[in-house]
Amino acid sequence: MADKAYLEFDGERHEFPVIRGSEDEVGINIKTLRSVTGGAITLDPGFKNTGACESGITFLDGEKGILRYRGYSIEELAEKADFLEVAYLLIFGNLPTKEELKKFGIDIASHSMVDEDVKKILDAFPKAAHPMGVLSSLTSALTAFNPSSVDVSSEEAMYNAIVRILGKMPVLVSWTMRKKMGLPLDYGDTSLGYVENLMTKMFRKPNEEYVINPVILNALDKLLILHADHEQNCSTSTVRIVGSSHAGLFASLSAGISALWGPLHGGANQAVIEMLEAIKEDGGDTKKYMAKAKDKNDPFRLMGFGHRVYKNFDPRARIIKEAADEVLHDLGIEDPILDIAKGLEQEALSDEYFVKRKLYPNVDFYSGIIYRAMGIPIDMFTVMFTLGRLPGWIAQWKEMRLRKEPIGRPRQIYTGENFRPFVALKDRT
Ligand code: CMC
Repeated sequence: MADKAYLEFDGERHEFPVIRGSEDEVGINIKTLRSVTGGAITLDPGFKNTGACESGITFLDGEKGILRYRGYSIEELAEKADFLEVAYLLIFGNLPTKEELKKFGIDIASHSMVDEDVKKILDAFPKAAHPMGVLSSLTSALTAFNPSSVDVSSEEAMYNAIVRILGKMPVLVSWTMRKKMGLPLDYGDTSLGYVENLMTKMFRKPNEEYVINPVILNALDKLLILHADHEQNCSTSTVRIVGSSHAGLFASLSAGISALWGPLHGGANQAVIEMLEAIKEDGGDTKKYMAKAKDKNDPFRLMGFGHRVYKNFDPRARIIKEAADEVLHDLGIEDPILDIAKGLEQEALSDEYFVKRKLYPNVDFYSGIIYRAMGIPIDMFTVMFTLGRLPGWIAQWKEMRLRKEPIGRPRQIYTGENFRPFVALKDRT
Protein backbone atom coordinates (compact mmCIF):
# COMPACT_ATOMS: atom_id res chain seq x y z
CA MET A 1 0.00 0.00 0.00
CA ALA A 2 1.09 3.57 -0.68
CA ASP A 3 3.37 5.23 1.85
CA LYS A 4 2.58 8.77 0.69
CA ALA A 5 -0.61 10.73 0.14
CA TYR A 6 -0.98 13.72 -2.18
CA LEU A 7 -3.16 16.79 -2.04
CA GLU A 8 -3.70 19.16 -4.92
CA PHE A 9 -4.53 22.63 -3.69
CA ASP A 10 -4.39 26.00 -5.43
CA GLY A 11 -2.56 24.51 -8.40
CA GLU A 12 0.13 22.87 -6.29
CA ARG A 13 0.64 19.23 -5.35
CA HIS A 14 1.70 18.47 -1.80
CA GLU A 15 3.01 15.22 -0.41
CA PHE A 16 2.22 13.83 3.05
CA PRO A 17 3.69 10.74 4.70
CA VAL A 18 1.39 7.82 5.45
CA ILE A 19 1.88 6.20 8.83
CA ARG A 20 0.78 2.71 9.77
CA GLY A 21 -0.20 1.34 13.17
CA SER A 22 0.81 -2.10 14.45
CA GLU A 23 -2.56 -3.48 13.30
CA ASP A 24 -2.17 -1.84 9.87
CA GLU A 25 -4.31 1.17 10.66
CA VAL A 26 -3.52 3.93 8.22
CA GLY A 27 -3.12 7.62 8.94
CA ILE A 28 -2.08 10.53 6.73
CA ASN A 29 0.28 12.74 8.68
CA ILE A 30 -0.77 16.30 7.89
CA LYS A 31 1.57 18.02 10.34
CA THR A 32 2.95 20.27 7.55
CA LEU A 33 -0.45 21.06 5.97
CA ARG A 34 -0.68 24.67 7.16
CA SER A 35 2.86 25.57 6.32
CA VAL A 36 2.83 24.09 2.78
CA THR A 37 -0.63 25.40 1.83
CA GLY A 38 -0.24 28.84 3.35
CA GLY A 39 -2.66 28.27 6.26
CA ALA A 40 -5.31 25.75 5.13
CA ILE A 41 -6.61 23.41 7.82
CA THR A 42 -8.75 20.28 7.78
CA LEU A 43 -12.34 20.53 9.00
CA ASP A 44 -13.78 17.46 10.72
CA PRO A 45 -16.61 18.17 13.18
CA GLY A 46 -16.88 15.45 15.82
CA PHE A 47 -13.37 14.27 14.78
CA LYS A 48 -14.96 11.46 12.78
CA ASN A 49 -11.85 11.15 10.56
CA THR A 50 -9.21 12.64 12.81
CA GLY A 51 -6.58 10.82 14.82
CA ALA A 52 -5.51 12.90 17.81
CA CYS A 53 -2.49 10.83 18.82
CA GLU A 54 -0.54 7.62 18.41
CA SER A 55 -1.25 5.29 21.30
CA GLY A 56 -0.03 1.89 22.47
CA ILE A 57 -2.81 1.19 24.96
CA THR A 58 -6.03 -0.05 23.36
CA PHE A 59 -6.76 -1.54 19.95
CA LEU A 60 -10.29 -1.37 18.62
CA ASP A 61 -11.54 -2.64 15.28
CA GLY A 62 -15.11 -1.40 15.00
CA GLU A 63 -15.80 -3.28 11.76
CA LYS A 64 -14.79 -6.66 13.19
CA GLY A 65 -15.94 -6.00 16.76
CA ILE A 66 -12.45 -6.45 18.28
CA LEU A 67 -11.28 -4.80 21.51
CA ARG A 68 -7.86 -5.44 23.07
CA TYR A 69 -5.99 -3.83 25.96
CA ARG A 70 -2.21 -3.87 25.41
CA GLY A 71 -2.70 -6.75 22.96
CA TYR A 72 -4.91 -8.95 25.19
CA SER A 73 -8.47 -9.65 24.04
CA ILE A 74 -11.26 -8.20 26.13
CA GLU A 75 -12.94 -11.62 26.21
CA GLU A 76 -9.87 -13.25 27.77
CA LEU A 77 -9.28 -10.44 30.25
CA ALA A 78 -12.93 -10.45 31.38
CA GLU A 79 -12.76 -14.21 31.87
CA LYS A 80 -9.33 -14.63 33.46
CA ALA A 81 -8.07 -11.38 35.01
CA ASP A 82 -9.28 -9.21 37.85
CA PHE A 83 -9.83 -5.47 37.69
CA LEU A 84 -6.64 -4.51 39.54
CA GLU A 85 -4.50 -6.63 37.19
CA VAL A 86 -6.19 -4.97 34.23
CA ALA A 87 -5.62 -1.52 35.74
CA TYR A 88 -1.91 -2.35 36.11
CA LEU A 89 -1.79 -3.70 32.56
CA LEU A 90 -3.33 -0.56 31.10
CA ILE A 91 -1.23 1.87 33.13
CA PHE A 92 2.15 0.12 32.98
CA GLY A 93 1.91 -1.83 29.71
CA ASN A 94 2.31 -5.44 30.90
CA LEU A 95 0.48 -7.89 33.13
CA PRO A 96 1.95 -7.63 36.64
CA THR A 97 3.96 -10.37 38.31
CA LYS A 98 2.64 -11.54 41.70
CA GLU A 99 5.11 -9.19 43.47
CA GLU A 100 4.25 -6.21 41.27
CA LEU A 101 0.54 -6.71 41.82
CA LYS A 102 1.01 -7.07 45.58
CA LYS A 103 3.04 -3.86 45.79
CA PHE A 104 0.53 -2.01 43.59
CA GLY A 105 -2.35 -3.13 45.83
CA ILE A 106 -0.48 -2.13 49.01
CA ASP A 107 0.48 1.29 47.58
CA ILE A 108 -3.14 1.94 46.58
CA ALA A 109 -4.49 0.77 49.93
CA SER A 110 -2.05 2.98 51.83
CA HIS A 111 -3.45 6.02 50.02
CA SER A 112 -7.12 5.18 50.39
CA MET A 113 -7.84 7.66 53.19
CA VAL A 114 -9.60 10.86 52.20
CA ASP A 115 -9.17 14.06 54.21
CA GLU A 116 -12.05 14.36 56.70
CA ASP A 117 -12.74 17.88 55.43
CA VAL A 118 -13.90 16.38 52.11
CA LYS A 119 -16.95 15.22 54.06
CA LYS A 120 -17.87 18.86 54.66
CA ILE A 121 -17.88 19.49 50.90
CA LEU A 122 -20.00 16.38 50.37
CA ASP A 123 -22.41 17.53 53.07
CA ALA A 124 -22.91 20.86 51.31
CA PHE A 125 -24.50 19.14 48.28
CA PRO A 126 -28.27 18.69 48.30
CA LYS A 127 -29.29 15.02 48.56
CA ALA A 128 -30.93 15.28 45.14
CA ALA A 129 -27.67 16.36 43.43
CA HIS A 130 -26.70 14.09 40.56
CA PRO A 131 -23.83 11.84 41.75
CA MET A 132 -21.77 12.55 38.61
CA GLY A 133 -21.72 16.27 39.42
CA VAL A 134 -20.80 15.48 43.02
CA LEU A 135 -18.05 13.06 41.97
CA SER A 136 -16.56 15.47 39.46
CA SER A 137 -16.48 18.23 42.10
CA LEU A 138 -14.97 16.01 44.78
CA THR A 139 -12.30 14.74 42.37
CA SER A 140 -11.38 18.31 41.54
CA ALA A 141 -11.40 19.18 45.26
CA LEU A 142 -8.86 16.42 45.94
CA THR A 143 -6.32 18.62 44.13
CA ALA A 144 -6.51 21.04 47.05
CA PHE A 145 -5.97 18.29 49.62
CA ASN A 146 -3.10 16.67 47.68
CA PRO A 147 -1.13 19.55 46.16
CA SER A 148 1.89 17.31 45.48
CA SER A 149 -0.23 15.45 42.91
CA VAL A 150 -0.68 18.53 40.74
CA ASP A 151 2.78 19.15 39.39
CA VAL A 152 4.08 15.77 38.29
CA SER A 153 7.47 16.45 36.83
CA SER A 154 9.02 13.06 37.68
CA GLU A 155 7.85 9.49 37.09
CA GLU A 156 7.88 8.97 40.86
CA ALA A 157 5.50 11.90 41.40
CA MET A 158 3.35 10.49 38.61
CA TYR A 159 3.23 7.08 40.30
CA ASN A 160 2.28 8.65 43.61
CA ALA A 161 -0.55 10.62 42.01
CA ILE A 162 -1.78 7.44 40.27
CA VAL A 163 -1.92 5.23 43.38
CA ARG A 164 -3.50 8.08 45.35
CA ILE A 165 -6.41 8.50 42.95
CA LEU A 166 -6.87 4.72 42.57
CA GLY A 167 -7.10 4.56 46.37
CA LYS A 168 -9.35 7.56 46.91
CA MET A 169 -11.77 7.31 43.97
CA PRO A 170 -13.63 4.23 45.31
CA VAL A 171 -14.04 6.11 48.61
CA LEU A 172 -15.56 9.10 46.81
CA VAL A 173 -17.78 6.78 44.75
CA SER A 174 -19.10 4.99 47.82
CA TRP A 175 -19.54 8.20 49.83
CA THR A 176 -21.46 9.79 46.97
CA MET A 177 -23.85 6.85 46.96
CA ARG A 178 -24.13 6.50 50.74
CA LYS A 179 -24.82 10.19 51.24
CA LYS A 180 -27.68 9.89 48.78
CA MET A 181 -29.05 6.83 50.54
CA GLY A 182 -28.69 8.36 54.01
CA LEU A 183 -26.08 5.79 55.09
CA PRO A 184 -23.04 6.63 57.27
CA LEU A 185 -19.81 7.02 55.29
CA ASP A 186 -17.56 3.97 55.28
CA TYR A 187 -13.84 3.54 54.58
CA GLY A 188 -14.15 -0.16 53.75
CA ASP A 189 -11.44 -2.64 54.66
CA THR A 190 -8.03 -2.49 52.97
CA SER A 191 -7.27 -6.11 53.85
CA LEU A 192 -9.74 -7.03 51.09
CA GLY A 193 -9.13 -7.07 47.35
CA TYR A 194 -9.80 -3.85 45.40
CA VAL A 195 -13.30 -4.76 44.18
CA GLU A 196 -14.27 -6.60 47.42
CA ASN A 197 -13.25 -3.48 49.32
CA LEU A 198 -15.32 -1.33 46.94
CA MET A 199 -18.39 -3.50 47.54
CA THR A 200 -17.85 -3.35 51.29
CA LYS A 201 -17.52 0.43 51.21
CA MET A 202 -20.68 0.73 49.14
CA PHE A 203 -23.02 -1.78 50.74
CA ARG A 204 -21.93 -2.49 54.34
CA LYS A 205 -24.52 -1.47 56.93
CA PRO A 206 -23.28 -0.27 60.33
CA ASN A 207 -25.38 -2.76 62.27
CA GLU A 208 -24.87 -6.03 60.39
CA GLU A 209 -22.09 -8.18 59.01
CA TYR A 210 -21.52 -7.72 55.30
CA VAL A 211 -21.04 -10.95 53.37
CA ILE A 212 -19.83 -10.60 49.81
CA ASN A 213 -21.90 -12.44 47.23
CA PRO A 214 -19.36 -14.09 44.86
CA VAL A 215 -21.73 -13.86 41.89
CA ILE A 216 -22.05 -10.09 42.30
CA LEU A 217 -18.32 -9.74 42.94
CA ASN A 218 -17.51 -11.62 39.74
CA ALA A 219 -20.02 -9.60 37.69
CA LEU A 220 -18.79 -6.28 39.08
CA ASP A 221 -15.16 -7.19 38.40
CA LYS A 222 -16.14 -8.07 34.83
CA LEU A 223 -18.12 -4.86 34.33
CA LEU A 224 -15.23 -2.73 35.57
CA ILE A 225 -12.78 -4.56 33.27
CA LEU A 226 -15.06 -4.12 30.26
CA HIS A 227 -15.28 -0.38 30.89
CA ALA A 228 -11.60 0.12 31.70
CA ASP A 229 -10.51 1.72 28.41
CA HIS A 230 -11.86 2.47 24.98
CA GLU A 231 -9.15 4.49 23.25
CA GLN A 232 -9.92 8.07 22.21
CA ASN A 233 -13.58 8.41 23.22
CA CYS A 234 -15.12 11.70 24.36
CA SER A 235 -14.10 11.53 28.05
CA THR A 236 -10.63 10.10 27.37
CA SER A 237 -9.96 12.79 24.78
CA THR A 238 -11.11 15.30 27.40
CA VAL A 239 -8.68 13.91 29.97
CA ARG A 240 -5.83 14.02 27.44
CA ILE A 241 -6.62 17.52 26.26
CA VAL A 242 -7.01 18.97 29.77
CA GLY A 243 -3.84 17.16 30.84
CA SER A 244 -2.00 18.52 27.80
CA SER A 245 -2.10 21.98 29.41
CA HIS A 246 -0.24 20.36 32.35
CA ALA A 247 -3.23 20.74 34.64
CA GLY A 248 -2.79 17.95 37.20
CA LEU A 249 -4.10 14.39 36.97
CA PHE A 250 -7.04 14.97 39.33
CA ALA A 251 -8.21 18.10 37.46
CA SER A 252 -7.96 16.20 34.15
CA LEU A 253 -9.97 13.30 35.59
CA SER A 254 -12.60 15.66 36.97
CA ALA A 255 -13.11 17.02 33.45
CA GLY A 256 -13.27 13.45 32.11
CA ILE A 257 -16.04 12.64 34.61
CA SER A 258 -18.07 15.60 33.34
CA ALA A 259 -17.62 14.44 29.75
CA LEU A 260 -18.66 10.90 30.64
CA TRP A 261 -21.83 12.15 32.33
CA GLY A 262 -23.61 13.00 29.05
CA PRO A 263 -26.33 10.60 27.83
CA LEU A 264 -24.63 10.16 24.46
CA HIS A 265 -21.59 8.78 26.31
CA GLY A 266 -21.47 7.09 29.75
CA GLY A 267 -24.78 8.62 30.85
CA ALA A 268 -26.44 6.22 28.40
CA ASN A 269 -26.46 3.43 31.01
CA GLN A 270 -28.85 5.47 33.18
CA ALA A 271 -30.83 6.60 30.13
CA VAL A 272 -31.29 2.98 28.98
CA ILE A 273 -32.95 1.88 32.22
CA GLU A 274 -35.14 4.97 32.24
CA MET A 275 -36.14 4.21 28.64
CA LEU A 276 -36.85 0.53 29.36
CA GLU A 277 -38.89 1.49 32.42
CA ALA A 278 -40.87 4.01 30.37
CA ILE A 279 -41.57 1.35 27.72
CA LYS A 280 -42.73 -1.05 30.44
CA GLU A 281 -45.00 1.59 32.00
CA ASP A 282 -46.42 2.27 28.55
CA GLY A 283 -47.53 -1.35 28.15
CA GLY A 284 -44.28 -2.87 26.81
CA ASP A 285 -44.99 -2.09 23.16
CA THR A 286 -41.45 -2.28 21.74
CA LYS A 287 -42.69 -1.77 18.16
CA LYS A 288 -44.02 1.66 19.08
CA TYR A 289 -40.61 2.71 20.41
CA MET A 290 -38.78 1.23 17.43
CA ALA A 291 -40.99 3.40 15.22
CA LYS A 292 -40.24 6.46 17.36
CA ALA A 293 -36.47 5.79 17.12
CA LYS A 294 -36.71 5.69 13.32
CA ASP A 295 -38.90 8.78 13.02
CA LYS A 296 -36.65 11.71 12.08
CA ASN A 297 -39.23 14.16 13.48
CA ASP A 298 -39.10 12.50 16.89
CA PRO A 299 -36.06 13.26 19.08
CA PHE A 300 -36.30 9.79 20.69
CA ARG A 301 -33.27 7.57 20.16
CA LEU A 302 -32.90 3.97 21.19
CA MET A 303 -30.50 4.48 24.09
CA GLY A 304 -27.76 1.87 24.36
CA PHE A 305 -27.77 1.42 20.59
CA GLY A 306 -25.24 2.61 18.05
CA HIS A 307 -21.62 3.56 18.41
CA ARG A 308 -19.23 5.95 16.73
CA VAL A 309 -16.66 3.22 16.12
CA TYR A 310 -18.42 -0.16 16.29
CA LYS A 311 -20.22 -0.97 13.08
CA ASN A 312 -20.68 -4.52 14.27
CA PHE A 313 -21.48 -6.06 17.65
CA ASP A 314 -19.84 -4.24 20.56
CA PRO A 315 -17.88 -7.19 22.03
CA ARG A 316 -18.46 -5.78 25.52
CA ALA A 317 -22.25 -5.92 25.05
CA ARG A 318 -22.11 -9.67 24.28
CA ILE A 319 -20.27 -10.41 27.54
CA ILE A 320 -22.49 -8.10 29.59
CA LYS A 321 -25.67 -9.62 28.19
CA GLU A 322 -24.50 -13.07 29.30
CA ALA A 323 -23.48 -11.70 32.71
CA ALA A 324 -26.92 -10.08 33.12
CA ASP A 325 -28.58 -13.45 32.56
CA GLU A 326 -26.25 -15.12 35.07
CA VAL A 327 -26.63 -12.47 37.78
CA LEU A 328 -30.42 -12.29 37.56
CA HIS A 329 -30.68 -16.07 37.54
CA ASP A 330 -28.35 -16.44 40.52
CA LEU A 331 -30.11 -13.76 42.52
CA GLY A 332 -33.50 -15.22 41.59
CA ILE A 333 -34.62 -11.90 40.11
CA GLU A 334 -37.07 -11.74 37.25
CA ASP A 335 -36.73 -8.30 35.78
CA PRO A 336 -39.32 -7.64 33.05
CA ILE A 337 -37.13 -4.93 31.54
CA LEU A 338 -34.54 -7.61 30.61
CA ASP A 339 -37.19 -9.15 28.36
CA ILE A 340 -38.04 -5.74 26.91
CA ALA A 341 -34.34 -5.14 26.22
CA LYS A 342 -33.97 -8.51 24.50
CA GLY A 343 -37.12 -7.83 22.48
CA LEU A 344 -35.80 -4.47 21.29
CA GLU A 345 -32.47 -6.04 20.36
CA GLN A 346 -34.19 -8.81 18.39
CA GLU A 347 -36.31 -6.31 16.47
CA ALA A 348 -33.40 -3.98 15.77
CA LEU A 349 -31.23 -6.80 14.43
CA SER A 350 -33.73 -7.49 11.67
CA ASP A 351 -34.94 -3.93 11.08
CA GLU A 352 -33.77 -2.28 7.86
CA TYR A 353 -33.19 1.12 9.53
CA PHE A 354 -30.86 -0.34 12.18
CA VAL A 355 -29.22 -2.87 9.86
CA LYS A 356 -28.46 -0.23 7.20
CA ARG A 357 -26.90 2.12 9.77
CA LYS A 358 -25.09 -0.75 11.50
CA LEU A 359 -26.62 0.05 14.87
CA TYR A 360 -26.03 -2.68 17.46
CA PRO A 361 -26.42 -2.79 21.26
CA ASN A 362 -23.47 -1.08 22.93
CA VAL A 363 -21.80 -1.55 26.32
CA ASP A 364 -24.51 0.45 28.06
CA PHE A 365 -27.51 -1.56 26.85
CA TYR A 366 -27.39 -4.37 29.43
CA SER A 367 -25.04 -3.01 32.12
CA GLY A 368 -27.75 -1.05 33.98
CA ILE A 369 -29.83 -4.21 34.41
CA ILE A 370 -26.92 -5.77 36.33
CA TYR A 371 -26.24 -2.63 38.40
CA ARG A 372 -29.89 -2.46 39.34
CA ALA A 373 -29.94 -6.12 40.38
CA MET A 374 -26.93 -5.34 42.60
CA GLY A 375 -28.96 -2.70 44.44
CA ILE A 376 -27.17 0.30 42.95
CA PRO A 377 -29.43 3.37 42.45
CA ILE A 378 -30.05 4.30 38.80
CA ASP A 379 -28.29 7.66 38.93
CA MET A 380 -25.15 5.92 40.26
CA PHE A 381 -24.74 3.79 37.11
CA THR A 382 -22.54 6.31 35.32
CA VAL A 383 -20.49 6.66 38.51
CA MET A 384 -19.79 2.92 38.28
CA PHE A 385 -18.71 3.45 34.66
CA THR A 386 -16.38 6.19 35.93
CA LEU A 387 -14.66 3.85 38.32
CA GLY A 388 -14.21 1.29 35.57
CA ARG A 389 -12.81 3.87 33.15
CA LEU A 390 -10.40 5.31 35.73
CA PRO A 391 -7.38 3.11 34.82
CA GLY A 392 -7.89 3.89 31.12
CA TRP A 393 -7.98 7.63 31.73
CA ILE A 394 -4.87 7.35 33.90
CA ALA A 395 -3.03 5.26 31.30
CA GLN A 396 -3.92 7.69 28.51
CA TRP A 397 -2.95 10.73 30.58
CA LYS A 398 0.37 9.10 31.54
CA GLU A 399 1.12 8.17 27.94
CA MET A 400 0.34 11.72 26.80
CA ARG A 401 2.62 13.25 29.46
CA LEU A 402 5.50 10.79 28.93
CA ARG A 403 5.39 11.32 25.18
CA LYS A 404 5.55 15.06 25.85
CA GLU A 405 2.60 15.72 23.58
CA PRO A 406 1.97 19.40 22.75
CA ILE A 407 -0.97 21.26 24.23
CA GLY A 408 -4.24 20.28 22.48
CA ARG A 409 -5.48 23.28 20.60
CA PRO A 410 -7.69 22.69 17.54
CA ARG A 411 -8.27 25.41 14.95
CA GLN A 412 -11.50 26.62 13.37
CA ILE A 413 -12.94 28.14 10.24
CA TYR A 414 -14.39 31.49 11.29
CA THR A 415 -17.89 32.10 9.87
CA GLY A 416 -18.84 35.23 11.85
CA GLU A 417 -19.10 38.91 10.92
CA ASN A 418 -16.34 40.65 8.99
CA PHE A 419 -14.78 43.73 10.53
CA ARG A 420 -17.32 46.43 11.46
CA PRO A 421 -16.81 49.71 13.33
CA PHE A 422 -18.09 50.07 16.89
CA VAL A 423 -21.38 51.98 17.27
CA ALA A 424 -21.82 53.96 20.52
CA LEU A 425 -24.82 52.92 22.66
CA LYS A 426 -26.57 56.27 22.16
CA ASP A 427 -26.45 55.79 18.36
CA ARG A 428 -27.79 52.20 18.31
CA THR A 429 -31.39 51.75 17.25
N1 CMC B 1 -31.38 5.32 17.73
C1 CMC B 1 -31.86 5.68 16.52
N2 CMC B 1 -31.09 6.13 15.50
C2 CMC B 1 -29.78 6.21 15.72
C3 CMC B 1 -29.19 5.84 16.95
C4 CMC B 1 -30.04 5.37 17.97
N3 CMC B 1 -29.55 5.02 19.16
N4 CMC B 1 -27.86 6.03 16.90
C5 CMC B 1 -27.59 6.48 15.68
N5 CMC B 1 -28.75 6.60 14.95
C6 CMC B 1 -28.87 7.01 13.55
C7 CMC B 1 -28.72 8.51 13.41
O1 CMC B 1 -29.98 9.17 13.52
C8 CMC B 1 -28.10 8.63 12.05
O2 CMC B 1 -29.12 8.44 11.10
P1 CMC B 1 -29.05 9.20 9.65
O3 CMC B 1 -27.84 8.64 8.97
O4 CMC B 1 -30.35 8.85 8.99
O5 CMC B 1 -28.94 10.67 9.97
C9 CMC B 1 -27.17 7.44 11.96
O6 CMC B 1 -27.77 6.45 12.83
C10 CMC B 1 -25.74 7.71 12.42
O7 CMC B 1 -25.79 8.26 13.73
P2 CMC B 1 -24.85 9.43 14.26
O8 CMC B 1 -25.53 10.10 15.40
O9 CMC B 1 -24.38 10.25 13.12
O10 CMC B 1 -23.62 8.58 14.79
P3 CMC B 1 -22.52 9.07 15.79
O11 CMC B 1 -21.33 8.22 15.54
O12 CMC B 1 -22.35 10.55 15.71
O13 CMC B 1 -23.16 8.77 17.24
C11 CMC B 1 -23.82 7.66 19.23
C12 CMC B 1 -22.89 7.64 18.00
C13 CMC B 1 -23.38 6.59 20.22
C14 CMC B 1 -23.73 9.02 19.93
C15 CMC B 1 -25.28 7.40 18.75
O14 CMC B 1 -25.36 6.12 18.16
C16 CMC B 1 -26.30 7.52 19.90
O15 CMC B 1 -26.77 8.61 20.19
N6 CMC B 1 -26.64 6.36 20.57
C17 CMC B 1 -27.53 6.42 21.72
C18 CMC B 1 -26.74 6.84 22.96
C19 CMC B 1 -25.84 5.74 23.47
O16 CMC B 1 -26.23 4.59 23.60
N7 CMC B 1 -24.60 6.13 23.81
C20 CMC B 1 -23.59 5.20 24.38
C21 CMC B 1 -22.47 4.99 23.43
S1 CMC B 1 -21.40 3.60 23.89
C22 CMC B 1 -20.74 3.98 25.44
C23 CMC B 1 -20.03 5.25 25.56
O17 CMC B 1 -19.55 5.90 24.63
O18 CMC B 1 -19.92 5.71 26.69
